[in-house]
Amino acid sequence: MKKIAVIFLATTLAAITATIATANLKESPQSHDFVSVVPAPASVQMLDGSFSINAKTVFSLENDYQKSIASQLLEAAGYPSKPVVKKSAKASVHFVTDHALAHEAYTIDVSPKSVLIQASDDCGFFYALQTLKQLLDEDGTLPALHLADEPRFGFRGVLLDPSRYFIPKDEVLKIIDAAAAMKLNKVHLHLTDDNGWRIEIKRYPKLTEVGAWRVDRPDTPFPARRNPQPGEPATIGGFYTQDDIREIVAFAAERHIEVIPEIDMPAHANAALAAYPEYACPVVGKYIGVLPGIGGDNADIIYCAGNDGVFEFLQNILDEVLELFPSQYIHLGGDEAWKTHWKICPRCQARMKAENLADEEELQGWFMARMCDYVRGKGREVIGWDELTNSRLPEGVIIAGWQGMGQAALKAAAQGHRFIMTPARLMYFIRYQGPQWFEPATYFAGGSLKDVYEYEPVRPQWPAEYENLLMGVQACMWTEFCNSTEDVEYQLFPRLVALSEVAWCGRGNKNWEAFLKRLDAFVPQLEERNIIYARSMYNIQQTVTPEDGALSVSLSCIRPDVEIRYTTDGSTPAAESALYEVPLLFRGPVTLKAATFAGGRRTGAVLELPLRWNKATAKRIVNGRGDERLLLNGVRGSVKQTDLEWCSWDKDDVTFTVDLGESTEFSRVSMGFVTNYGMAVTKPASVRIEVSDDNGNFTLAAERSYTAEEIFAEGSFTENAVFETGAGCARYIRISLAGAGPCPADHTRPGKATKYYVDEVTVE
Ligand code: ACM
Ligand code: ZN
Repeated sequence: MKKIAVIFLATTLAAITATIATANLKESPQSHDFVSVVPAPASVQMLDGSFSINAKTVFSLENDYQKSIASQLLEAAGYPSKPVVKKSAKASVHFVTDHALAHEAYTIDVSPKSVLIQASDDCGFFYALQTLKQLLDEDGTLPALHLADEPRFGFRGVLLDPSRYFIPKDEVLKIIDAAAAMKLNKVHLHLTDDNGWRIEIKRYPKLTEVGAWRVDRPDTPFPARRNPQPGEPATIGGFYTQDDIREIVAFAAERHIEVIPEIDMPAHANAALAAYPEYACPVVGKYIGVLPGIGGDNADIIYCAGNDGVFEFLQNILDEVLELFPSQYIHLGGDEAWKTHWKICPRCQARMKAENLADEEELQGWFMARMCDYVRGKGREVIGWDELTNSRLPEGVIIAGWQGMGQAALKAAAQGHRFIMTPARLMYFIRYQGPQWFEPATYFAGGSLKDVYEYEPVRPQWPAEYENLLMGVQACMWTEFCNSTEDVEYQLFPRLVALSEVAWCGRGNKNWEAFLKRLDAFVPQLEERNIIYARSMYNIQQTVTPEDGALSVSLSCIRPDVEIRYTTDGSTPAAESALYEVPLLFRGPVTLKAATFAGGRRTGAVLELPLRWNKATAKRIVNGRGDERLLLNGVRGSVKQTDLEWCSWDKDDVTFTVDLGESTEFSRVSMGFVTNYGMAVTKPASVRIEVSDDNGNFTLAAERSYTAEEIFAEGSFTENAVFETGAGCARYIRISLAGAGPCPADHTRPGKATKYYVDEVTVE
């Protein structure tokens, strides 16, 4: 019986292959024809014709899993019906297991007469379905093609952070479903942090009764939120029950996604320690609460490494976590553990002595090794953040490289450890994803869709073995600036689509312009899922540079397939407005408005760029660092100090000189400052303005110092500081600024070095 089945199958396959072979191959020996599928398949050859799925389409299926995939295919084609599990030579759509294919790999052959889908396992068939859904047109028709696909990396992940903003379970499911459509296969749940404990642990109910709730600080950005006071009501938060977790894990498993739980240790533990303060070092004299923000000097409250009870506590927690998550990998954190208390804790110091540890870094290494051993003893593998490379690496640990460009992970690679790249500069989706004037306030520039797309984790100078140790890439959706599910989606999409290509596509199979076409075709799928996604890729970044008395305005958009159109008469740009082709030169005040267009329709937000003119505009800076030219470009910065219109320093003393070109009459010099309390962005401590006609002998024209209250004012705002210089003539204006030094003890970031930002020097 078995033998007959094999012969029958071989005959069927031969027939299908013959059909495909007789179809005309288009002129593309490279196997890289374009298909609107994300992530881009490894190899595609388009053929002539198409195949239409309809209610009468007969399937040949080997098992129930293939049946469920075939049902979903029929449903996507508009014919919800249930095929039966049966091998049939007469069928037109064949699902065939091919053990020669790698795990996750699949092939699809479509001819006008038949479809053949092959994979070695369920996952391959699932990925084939994701591709087929994107290939199907509205009539249920598939283009004839030969497609062979497999991922570049086995680890294709996204971190979700429900600790900072509690992401409701249904939203987690929604994101998992979308991630699976892009063939991502790991969702890392950052379940614990200073800002909330998000998983029910039966043995320690206070973890969620206390640790999942925090004081509300509405309308205050995360880094500016003050720590809770004893007795303050904790009103916002939430947690996943164990049933929720089981549901998330099962939902993800159906989509071939492994959910990796992170129980962060020894730091990021304020939520746990608010519930069980006995596990903090006994020297902690502060009130321990669930933190609503960055934590200030409470961020250094961490688990005591000298208390055996801590290990028992964490192991008991992990016992429940391991029961709930069948994942191969368990993440134990290990990041950003400040050792303030360990240094003075008698228990921690006694531990160091007993274990012969040279310093507190080694103590952390010992702590992590003990916990890693526990998890490994249960048959799982451990992932930790790259701070683990600061001391002896626990056996077998996998390092997630996040700092900078993830280079600390290479220290682990040098010792033969596997690693995952999630460099904060590109893969932290908390960052701005487009020109900042149009974006909701968040942290740091440099994470545009294009930046994400172009990330190549393997560096040319790497020793060959590093590439073998690199398991893959991960995006991290930290939620410090999210207050709703819409905020999370906006930051995640469409960058997650770009990440999927970084993770899936081979180096030779990535192309930014082709990706944009594929993304455009995928966007309706995001819309069908009611996913909020950013259109930042259509927005314009301006660069305005003083040039010999004029201002040169460059406009750019990361999408090369859009036109930029602009007006200077105050009207909103339209499809007929002037086309921007080369930088525009202006010699007087003007309000430039610009937007991107494609196919005659506006695609992005309208950039409104007032160029203001004063006696210093478009003049030269001398004696400075060079980039102070920005201060004479006629453009005011926004309240986002990183919007590229501010000049910043963290030095104590700064001096630069404006050269007005000739002796000029004026009586007032002003300049803009920005304050972003939580980010330690302040005005300078003092400003001194001197004038000269020869750039040699200067006389003092105005001077001001600011009080600590003025410098460390709370909030985010800009202000214009005006200095009356007295009427007179001069050619050179020398501006000296002094920095404010570290933030004071009562700041939300005590001791953090301040930075000061200045915009537009105005001379009147
Ligand atoms: C991290 O961003 N602290 C891993
Ligand atoms: Zn201690």
